[in-house]
Amino acid sequence: MKASITKGLGQGFVVEEVELAAPIGHEVRVQVKASGLCHSDLSIATFIGGDFPVVLGHEVAGVVTEVGPLVTQVKAGDHVVGSLIQFCGACVNCLSGRTYICLHPEATLRAPGEGPRLSCQGVPVAQGMGMGGFAQEVLVHENQLAVVPDEMPWAPAALIGCGVLTGAGAVLNSANVQHGETVVVIGAGGVGLNAVSGARLAGAGTIIVTDIEDGKLEHAKAFGATHVVNSRGTDPVAAVRDITCAGADHVFDFVGARPVTAQGLQMLGKGGGLYLIGAAAMDAGVDVSTFAVLSGSQKVQGVYMGSSNLKRDVPYYASMYLQGRMNLDDLVSKEIGLADIETGYESLKDGTTARVVITDLS
Ligand SMILES: NC(=O)c1ccc[n+]([C@@H]2O[C@H](COP(=O)([O-])OP(=O)(O)OC[C@H]3O[C@@H](n4cnc5c(N)ncnc54)[C@H](O)[C@@H]3O)[C@@H](O)[C@H]2O)c1
Ligand SMILES: [Zn+2]
Ligand SMILES: [Zn+2]
Repeated sequence: MKASITKGLGQGFVVEEVELAAPIGHEVRVQVKASGLCHSDLSIATFIGGDFPVVLGHEVAGVVTEVGPLVTQVKAGDHVVGSLIQFCGACVNCLSGRTYICLHPEATLRAPGEGPRLSCQGVPVAQGMGMGGFAQEVLVHENQLAVVPDEMPWAPAALIGCGVLTGAGAVLNSANVQHGETVVVIGAGGVGLNAVSGARLAGAGTIIVTDIEDGKLEHAKAFGATHVVNSRGTDPVAAVRDITCAGADHVFDFVGARPVTAQGLQMLGKGGGLYLIGAAAMDAGVDVSTFAVLSGSQKVQGVYMGSSNLKRDVPYYASMYLQGRMNLDDLVSKEIGLADIETGYESLKDGTTARVVITDLS
């Protein structure tokens, strides 16, 4: 099969012929129909690094074609969405419902001696986040898949696997936003826009979105923002204070640059929470004054994958979409081929693009 390989830090994405092993144990073979371009894969390929060569890509939707002998949760022909959340199902965190912080995510991978899932001319190729979705097919543990209705279109389905779980989950699960509360979303990209959708589902009273691109702010309005602020020309802290008077109940940072995160902290009202989701550089972070947060009873929380339970949340978002209660169509700004990943990421800088999805896997 064809897959797009990243051979090293800064070496981009190159399509090559890759061998996929036959499924063993709990593994499922999926024919990929759509694969989203999440910013995290670009970060891995450009500054985070990891095992190379690697097939990245972790926002996948497709059809199950073959299952390993121990698979019980999916069958051939099922339409599935893949997620990068890797969980064992047996540790104390999984058993208390917090699969996103599983203590043994490696249980979803092959053991040493079982051979690589992916290889290129006999050389093992790593599989990004247990998925390797920039490819015609993936071989993945059944715990990383959720079944969706056949009528769910492929491109929006793929985006549920990371961008939607992360953005909407941050609001609904991590922050548990209540109706009437005030929400600020910093960064209206492919993930942040889903926080706007999540805030709507939660019944938030005020949903303020900040970005530096007017085009992204136009998207935010289409997803349900009640107020938008272009922080290139306007002080976003003063704007949020103006709109809310008492400061925000919840601020979600999808950018993760130090000055932006510091502004997020300043936007909080008493009892408010700042949620850290994006990280633009390795030194991303925020200085917290203990006196300020203790007197304001505020919190700062890191959020991984929207604290999601993918088996519950993926079908939930698919059904919200199919009922017309969640906007996923406007996330799909552009559909591309497997060989166009670099230009696809490039177009995300264009203020009009929300998410780019690979749908031509020929
Ligand atoms: N924590 C997690 O589990 C998790 C999961 C998925 C993605 N992420 C991260 O979330 C972040 C967002 O991902 P994405 O795919 O939506 O990226 P994206 O590139 O689509 O969106 C980023 C948005 O931020 C805006 N922006 C940039 N600088 C800004 C600034 N100074 N102020 C306000 N807005 C600004 C951009 O215009 C863009 O709209 C990335 O860092 C990604 O790695 C985290
Ligand atoms: Zn992602
Ligand atoms: Zn576990």
